[in-house]
Amino acid sequence: MASSDNSSPKPQAAQGMSKALTNYGDREFSLFLRKAFIKGAGYTDDALSKPIVGIANTGSGFNPCHGNAPQLIEAVKRGVMLAGGLPVEFPTISIHESFAHPTSMFLRNLMAMDTEELIRAQPMDAVVLIGGCDKTVPAQLMGAASAGIPAIQLVTGSMLTGSHRGTRVGACTDCRRFWASYRGDEIDAQEIADVNNQLVASVGTCSVMGTASTMACITEALGMMVPGGATPPAVTADRIRVAERTGTQAVAMIGAGLTPDRILTGKAFENALRVLLAIGGSTNAIIHLTAIAGRLGIAIDLDGLDRISKETPVLVDLKPSGQHYMEDLHKAGGLAAVLRELRPLLHLDTLTVTGRTLGEELDAAGPGFPQDVVRSRENPIYPQGGIAFLRGNLAPGGAIIKQSAASKDLMEHEGRAVVFENLEDLAKRIDDPDLDVNPEDVLVLKNIGPIGAPGMPEAGYMPIPKKIGRLGVKDMVRISDGRMSGTASGSIVLHVTPESAMGGPLALVQSGDRIRLSVSERSLTLLVDETELARRRAAMPPAPPRAEDQRGYRKLFLSTVTQADAGCDFDFLRAVEIRETVPAKPAQPEDKA
Ligand code: FES
Repeated sequence: MASSDNSSPKPQAAQGMSKALTNYGDREFSLFLRKAFIKGAGYTDDALSKPIVGIANTGSGFNPCHGNAPQLIEAVKRGVMLAGGLPVEFPTISIHESFAHPTSMFLRNLMAMDTEELIRAQPMDAVVLIGGCDKTVPAQLMGAASAGIPAIQLVTGSMLTGSHRGTRVGACTDCRRFWASYRGDEIDAQEIADVNNQLVASVGTCSVMGTASTMACITEALGMMVPGGATPPAVTADRIRVAERTGTQAVAMIGAGLTPDRILTGKAFENALRVLLAIGGSTNAIIHLTAIAGRLGIAIDLDGLDRISKETPVLVDLKPSGQHYMEDLHKAGGLAAVLRELRPLLHLDTLTVTGRTLGEELDAAGPGFPQDVVRSRENPIYPQGGIAFLRGNLAPGGAIIKQSAASKDLMEHEGRAVVFENLEDLAKRIDDPDLDVNPEDVLVLKNIGPIGAPGMPEAGYMPIPKKIGRLGVKDMVRISDGRMSGTASGSIVLHVTPESAMGGPLALVQSGDRIRLSVSERSLTLLVDETELARRRAAMPPAPPRAEDQRGYRKLFLSTVTQADAGCDFDFLRAVEIRETVPAKPAQPEDKA
């Protein structure tokens, strides 16, 4: 279906301090009162007459990934004022992966609602969104897409790498690697304590191609941040300069009426999906992109994603798929180096926050230079995109596997299921010496989907049972309806849809069943006949009610959250109508006139 015309700026109504007035039934009194209050903070009438750029401040003592927020805000303000605007910062919810119970994903939609409503409720002509840690950027883009005023994303930037006994380390691929070694008795308590001091060497986001780095890169590809904004590390001068440019650009966007719907088009999402595949990006980004697109009436077709995955190789040699870290990608030229290689596969006419197209910005970035982080398409890290989309009787709504970070010898695998009913069951039995498990078995974890856990925690990266780990086994096929951190690796099938808590087929799996995974055929099959599955379904007892589900945000979450294939957004926050589906199907001969 043709998309609506997003190419022209929309006429703006009230501006600056006159926007979004508090309702007293007398608009002039509302403005009079507002100005009286803000003058209490020392503003002059001259300052209050300027276009206003709101700055969403997500600095928090519980969010070290955003620990440079004060420096960034200062630089954004400088940029806004250099361009003749008035910067006003305001706080919103901040979410850090390790400081969010039960899981950060449970809170993403709350932050998106907070961001949207504060943009809408307060007088700003444009907004700078300062995010970084995994869920913050998706939440801010979801909120901004719905709020509809000019918005520009600034990320906090990646943390520096540390050094442990002569080895370079960074969060959080190495966190998991060292922890697995500790569980396998390969390193002792002293060493695991030592490395704990080195994994996070500065403020900033995880230093590998985890979800935060992935979201930074695809946000630049979407056109929602200044070119070159994805990769500068948090503590560098480059990052501060990006912040200043972001502030300046935000003012320019007001004059141009550059609203998110003009930038976040179907073609822009296709570009973002290409980049996601080429950077070996986090599986979580698919859920987030689906949620952001859903706010604008754009659906992401996972079969289509799989189709473009087959023609988009992984080019970026970063952990967990490769060997380098984000600061290396920045020194190698940043995302421009990736976009240059992908150029023939991209829509170059998409608009960016600068008002220029992606193609124009790529031309302006100039030629590349010799480096060893971003490969050519002729010499990729992995011949296909990092993510494969699976279907089968175990996942009628789909499932995904990060094939670039999986073991090659497990990509075609049949094994006996070892089932854990939920997270508590997993914690209780995974290291039981009497657990009936062999290295070739398939570990299955139920009830960690959007509703089951709730919040779809990153528990899909199940630990290898200790008794198997001690045999030197580093990977097994693992299947769940949950997510995994973008920093993790392994032969791990995720996002099984529909989830087991909704009665999806995953709920019917029993220990001893056989499961077949074929990445080449894109299939995930439970080798149990339909009659037996129907018998099990009929015998399944209803889930016992949980008292804590009956009130507050949790009740809202459980009653309105969608499944992974709809981005886990709340159903009432998505656009009323889906008007476009991407990636667009290639034209068939009969389609041509
Ligand atoms: Fe914040 Fe990894 S925990 S980016």
